Amino acid sequence: MDQLNGWKRTGDCNFLNKEHLDQEVVLMGWVQKRRDHGGVIFIDLRDRMGITQVVFNPEHSPESHEKAHEIRNEYVLAIKGKVSLRPEGMMNPKLPTGEIEVMVDELKILNQAQTPPFQIEDEINTGEDLRLRYRYLDLRRPSLQKIIQMRHRVSQQTRRYFDEQGFLEIETPCLTKSTPEGARDYLVPSRVSPHHFYALPQSPQLFKQILMIAGYDRYFQIVKCFRDEDLRADRQPEFTQIDLEMSFVEKDQVISMVEGLIRQIFQKEKGLDLTGPFQRMKYQEAIDRYGVDRPDTRFGLELKDISDIVKDSGFKVFSEVVQKGGQVKGINGKECAKLSRKEIDDLTELVKIYKAKGLAWIKINPDGIQSPLKKFLSEEEINQIRDRMQAEPGDILFFVADKPEITANSLGALRLALGQKLDLIDSSKYNFLWITDFPLLEYDAEAGRYESKHHPFTSPVEEDIPLLETDPLKVHAQAYDIVLNGLEIGGGSIRIHQKELQKKVFLKLGISEEEAVEKFGFLMEALEYGAPPHGGLALGLDRLIMILAETSSIRDVIAFPKTQKATCLMTNAPNKAMPEQLKELKIKLDFS
Ligand code: AMO
Ligand code: AMP
Repeated sequence: MDQLNGWKRTGDCNFLNKEHLDQEVVLMGWVQKRRDHGGVIFIDLRDRMGITQVVFNPEHSPESHEKAHEIRNEYVLAIKGKVSLRPEGMMNPKLPTGEIEVMVDELKILNQAQTPPFQIEDEINTGEDLRLRYRYLDLRRPSLQKIIQMRHRVSQQTRRYFDEQGFLEIETPCLTKSTPEGARDYLVPSRVSPHHFYALPQSPQLFKQILMIAGYDRYFQIVKCFRDEDLRADRQPEFTQIDLEMSFVEKDQVISMVEGLIRQIFQKEKGLDLTGPFQRMKYQEAIDRYGVDRPDTRFGLELKDISDIVKDSGFKVFSEVVQKGGQVKGINGKECAKLSRKEIDDLTELVKIYKAKGLAWIKINPDGIQSPLKKFLSEEEINQIRDRMQAEPGDILFFVADKPEITANSLGALRLALGQKLDLIDSSKYNFLWITDFPLLEYDAEAGRYESKHHPFTSPVEEDIPLLETDPLKVHAQAYDIVLNGLEIGGGSIRIHQKELQKKVFLKLGISEEEAVEKFGFLMEALEYGAPPHGGLALGLDRLIMILAETSSIRDVIAFPKTQKATCLMTNAPNKAMPEQLKELKIKLDFS
């Protein structure tokens, strides 16, 4: 193999154009493609910035032309040569370097390469597992390179923005204690304290609050978080947050700080001027209208409540549910009366995933209605339902009767499925939405206890505090989530900064005083030493990049992502520990 021997790159493989004609240049990169035109050999030389065509001509440089015969795809080359104009008809207007080529004087083959298991180009039909195993080859593909570069730009812009706003970037530990954000912890055993474990942080929540108490009143960090939870298209076990916290502020100041950052990012990356404050919606309104707390507001198909109309109806499924305190809600599938039985059955299966017991439907045909419920509903009821649902001939109305939580979840999912099926979602739109006025607590019926809707450090709304004793589910939180096109891209809150209130909330969550001391004693103590009012938020950087890069998989925006089973196919992590490591850690595996 050749060595560099003092050669230096003149530039990347994207910078040459007509202005550089006749200049002597040195380029280095990988072989994208080699074409041997019986005599002249053409090579597309690629690096992360682009491609330049280089030419080996036997008359111009017999030596390098001879050597070029050895070259295969993905070989690593250095070439020295002169920039020349491509002949008429050979120009490639799609490439920034498409008007020129480099006539090679000297070639160095810096390394060979095996034939890659897939083509290094964008439109490939290769299974993701293979791409993840050879991630270094996958990352050479232009689409991934663009995303990784975009991610870099967004991180740099974030750092500049917060620096300009007077924030300090402060690192917090990875080997720490559990911070409850609703997922399982990843544990790391300690060698020097046998049988003791660190938890990897689910977020830097407690450290950033402690930083506020320490007087670092504007903090941010681009930080890895670790959560052992079931993975989905928008979830990874380790992911990155843009995390911030501010002292002496109320909700609106945090919100406008975050909007400012997002505005800058969208201006830079998308050329979009997002004017005016982002829309806000109360949690309950989002659930009522869309069934979810992260609604995609780019399309309609809103949920409508018909409980009052059917409460005494002859269709027992409906009337009994309402009488038991449940509700009947529906969606108007506009112009979908043509859906087949099979399609309706598929939608029924979908809502059943969300625990709905069935999916009732009414087709509005030009000559009347068609529905399994027809014989149970009076004409008056049908007319009222049609009015409420704004039904027109050609529509199909879908209904679920159940507990509010189930109607919301199942119809929320049905709405999204219909939006996609009917192609109602305008992908050029960016609908930002703040969801506010969340409940502080929710009740986990299975476990028989209250849980935080966000995390236990979220402050209740001041005037609701007395309700903590009398009607805990009615207490609102000073929390806010930011939603973009149906994806939760961030969440935050004003925090509790008084010990007594924190204690009260812990107790409501079933965390006893002893447990609070054992788990969060440091926080409880710190709250006694002059904690300022404070609040903040964390944006999911990966999700933000997913939207900017217009990809539906979070794995596309992370250089080295994990599979759905939280494994890394390139390194084969996680793997078994060596017996001597376990011995040192005083851990004995239970193989049962
Ligand atoms: P939260 O748990 O809402 O809040 O997380 C903030 C944001 O992080 C993103 N996110 C994820 N992204 C990818 N994979 C995951 N597994 C994952 N989990 C969360 C989401 C989410 O909105 N400490 C609080 C923030 C605060 O109160 O300041 C917190 O972590 O986009
Ligand atoms: P059944 O009386 O069980 O044959 O149901 C008649 C229709 O009502 C079917 O289309 C079912 O899918 C639907 N259905 C049953 N239970 C519910 C429910 N809880 N909510 C909405 N539709 C239901």
